[in-house]
Amino acid sequence: MPMMRLDKFISERTEYTRSQIKQLCSKGSVSVNGSAVKKSDTKIDSDADKVEVCGRSLSAERYSYILLNKPKGYVSSTVDSDGESVLKLVPEDMRTKGLFPAGRLDKDTTGALLFTDDGELAHRICSPNSHISKVYIAELSRPFEQEYVEKFGKGLTLANGEVCAPAKVRAAENAENLAFVELHEGMYHQVKRMFAAVGNHVENLKRISLGGFFLPENLPLGECMCLLPKDIEQLFAKIDFDDILTIGQNYFSAN
Ligand code: URA
Repeated sequence: MPMMRLDKFISERTEYTRSQIKQLCSKGSVSVNGSAVKKSDTKIDSDADKVEVCGRSLSAERYSYILLNKPKGYVSSTVDSDGESVLKLVPEDMRTKGLFPAGRLDKDTTGALLFTDDGELAHRICSPNSHISKVYIAELSRPFEQEYVEKFGKGLTLANGEVCAPAKVRAAENAENLAFVELHEGMYHQVKRMFAAVGNHVENLKRISLGGFFLPENLPLGECMCLLPKDIEQLFAKIDFDDILTIGQNYFSAN
């Protein structure tokens, strides 16, 4: 049984400093298994004991993983800059110390955005060599052209000379202005610049998956959900692009 100090357990999972935790304990605002604990250096079993601070119960898990279905109009940073921060959309009782968006979506892009306080996982998702693919649905101003498949597949050169890694792109069934794109990298405005490089224009963009994990269709825009360890495993699962296309068709009816 992993024993640790109560104040360490709380400070790893909340915004409170050790001295604030000490005060909260002495006021009787911290309980372990339903009983108030006055001393913040009390040892607890971090797996089994149920800790509550001001009525809020803290998870035994060391890290938080939260998925947001990002709406338009919010910036992917932890502070307001050129718009409101996406962090404002995370309910207060889900926020933990050090929570930040693992990756970026443009202010006008919607869809799957992961928040975590697990720096190592965020690095694995965001690193340029990440093997975690990201799939987007792009609404185009002009019809999809079949030649995009080969051009994207060879690795497009963007207007400024940057060269993209080979990417998969397909038209959606029965919708000539909609395309699915799968990327393994995350350059600035990459999907928009890729379509610009083939003479098209992205009107709307939504991210529908991170690795093998798909944005649940029933998660409304602007809402968050906590991810479970099995969801995090799915991030690293390999998924075939043809399966992505089949699953992706379901998103047209949703937001
Ligand atoms: N590509 C873009 O152009 N924008 C995003 O938000 C994500 C990928």
